[in-house]
Amino acid sequence: MRSTRGVSIWPVGFVGGRSYERPLVSGGKVVGWYTGWRPDRPFATDMAGFAVNLQVILANPRALFKRRGSQPGMQESDFLKQITKVSELEPKANNCTRVLVWHTRTEKPHLANEPKLKKDTVDIEV
Ligand SMILES: *[C@@H]1O[C@H](CO)[C@@H](O)[C@H](O)[C@H]1NC(C)=O
Repeated sequence: MRSTRGVSIWPVGFVGGRSYERPLVSGGKVVGWYTGWRPDRPFATDMAGFAVNLQVILANPRALFKRRGSQPGMQESDFLKQITKVSELEPKANNCTRVLVWHTRTEKPHLANEPKLKKDTVDIEV
């Protein structure tokens, strides 16, 4: 997070009905998303999954993180598309192959969207 130059991104554990969601990274760039929920989201990430350098905020003074008015699950995308592009994201957590943050609640995780067969290309400890 601390080395974020623009906008960085990483996997999040226990979110979207899966044990994790993560950006798919190729050649150091985000090329897609491993998610079981609304894969049409331009930025299929949770609020816990990204960081923004303060300079980016200052350079985009009109960028808004809407508290209301976004469709369910689109709050992150609605915000991020104002300040960056998917191709500009900086992957963290070893090219998004490690879960280092969790979308935790004081309840058992919901895993209804977990794939029956293993669908990811990497093995990640959650
Ligand atoms: C991420 O991937 C890029 C491109 O393959 C590579 O140059 C870089 O060393 C990788 N970073 C880490 C932390 O593995």
